[in-house]
Amino acid sequence: MKLAIINGSTRPGNVTANQVKWILKAAQNADGVESTVINLADFPMPFMDEPISPKYNPDRKPSAAVQKWMDAVAGYDAYFWVTPEYNHSVPAVLKNAIDYLTFELVRKPSAIASHGSVNGARAIMALKEILAELSTPVIGTIGVAGFPPVLNADGELSAEALANPYGPQSQLEGLLTELSWYADALKNAA
Ligand SMILES: Cc1cc2nc3c(=O)[nH]c(=O)nc-3n(C[C@H](O)[C@H](O)[C@H](O)COP(=O)(O)O)c2cc1C
Repeated sequence: MKLAIINGSTRPGNVTANQVKWILKAAQNADGVESTVINLADFPMPFMDEPISPKYNPDRKPSAAVQKWMDAVAGYDAYFWVTPEYNHSVPAVLKNAIDYLTFELVRKPSAIASHGSVNGARAIMALKEILAELSTPVIGTIGVAGFPPVLNADGELSAEALANPYGPQSQLEGLLTELSWYADALKNAA
């Protein structure tokens, strides 16, 4: 599976990067997963300014900045969205970036990770609803508490979290296995 791990925070020094490192390491240790990290911060774009909904615009002419983002996201078999929770939802910059996408995600599975005071649960739920409109089925989600101490800057879980057999590490490994299964199944579907 060719997996894109997308960091949805554009804040300098963002902690979402810690969660991205953790997911990247697990993906690198999983069989048959080729992963790439995409930092949304590398794709500055205007707020959606197209005359027609991109989905329904056959004559769409995206700006160079938007085209660069679309090209960066296309070409993967699956997506792992890693988002912070801002005011109980996703950052506006991530919603805006997703609003520019259309066919790139269709019939490919997604997973979502977040973090925060309630493990990013509200951002996860908001993103699930948004992604449903892009026809990318969300196979699973994973949230961790605000960190540290759960996850450090090197993307390593605390000893306590690691020792929990039902904790975030086993959840993440299980989610990557499921994501691979769905990526293969959807890719090979007639
Ligand atoms: C604008 C803003 C709104 C926030 N709202 C929430 C929130 O609703 N729930 C929460 O758990 N944390 C909230 N936080 C705290 C973030 O979880 C924390 O700042 C975290 O570091 C953000 O991730 P980032 O560093 O990757 O951007 C908010 C932070 C910002 C900047």
